[in-house]
Amino acid sequence: MDASRFPNLHVSQHPLVAHKLALLRDKGTEPKKFRELVRELSWLLGYEAMADLSTQPITVETPLESMAGAELEPKVGLIPVLRAGLGMVDAMLELMPSAEVWHIGLYRDERSLKPVEYYNKLPDAATVQVCLILDPMLATGGSSAATVDILKHWGAARIKQVSLIAAPEGVATLSGAHPDVDIHVAAVDRALNERGYIVPGLGDAGDRQFGTFAGPSSEPGHDPADETAEVVRRLQRNLAGEP
Ligand code: PRP
Ligand code: URA
Repeated sequence: MDASRFPNLHVSQHPLVAHKLALLRDKGTEPKKFRELVRELSWLLGYEAMADLSTQPITVETPLESMAGAELEPKVGLIPVLRAGLGMVDAMLELMPSAEVWHIGLYRDERSLKPVEYYNKLPDAATVQVCLILDPMLATGGSSAATVDILKHWGAARIKQVSLIAAPEGVATLSGAHPDVDIHVAAVDRALNERGYIVPGLGDAGDRQFGTFAGPSSEPGHDPADETAEVVRRLQRNLAGEP
């Protein structure tokens, strides 16, 4: 993918990120190690994603004298998208202990690949200025675009998406719908497969963190790929700039 088409896309170039991401992708990495790696990668990506936050001057009393210091200016909200975004919260809270955490519950419908909202307890008016959406996977982009819609309606002034892996189709969808949202990722992979999974990817980020490999029961005689393949083709036409 030509990343220069998306000025809001920031792909980490840090060697530690590349190293940890390869371990995370490995199918032999078990849930305990997987959760540790999600946490470590979140720390590194969070550090990069917050590099442009503004500060205001404060005076600090060291044991020896007064000096000019700085404190973070905006109030920051962390928005983990359930379930998989939960694994990114602790690292971000280590970086910013005073951040507020507002959970959003979304799951992807297995046929339409559209996000379905099931949890949202945001108060009427925004309580933070900067929101960081935390979700390991940016696949079709449907979940992240829906979360941005919710946060803009709430009144968030600035929104950033922090994900571990993105698909080009998802970057195009999110950037097209919300060009003002910065996207910070460890990698952009090759494509979506016909089921809407990122390839090469890492599989299902929620299942790999929480050890839920049995997955939900599906309708007998129904193959969701019949419908998801058409959704993915439409996203790929959008990415290519075709009607
Ligand atoms: C995964 C992932 C994202 C979404 C990305 O969640 O954590 O929220 O899919 O896909 P999209 O870009 O195509 O919308 P999932 O629906 O599997 O729910 P889970 O986190 O509860 O496993
Ligand atoms: N959600 C995941 O967890 N993985 C994918 O590849 C796509 C969506």
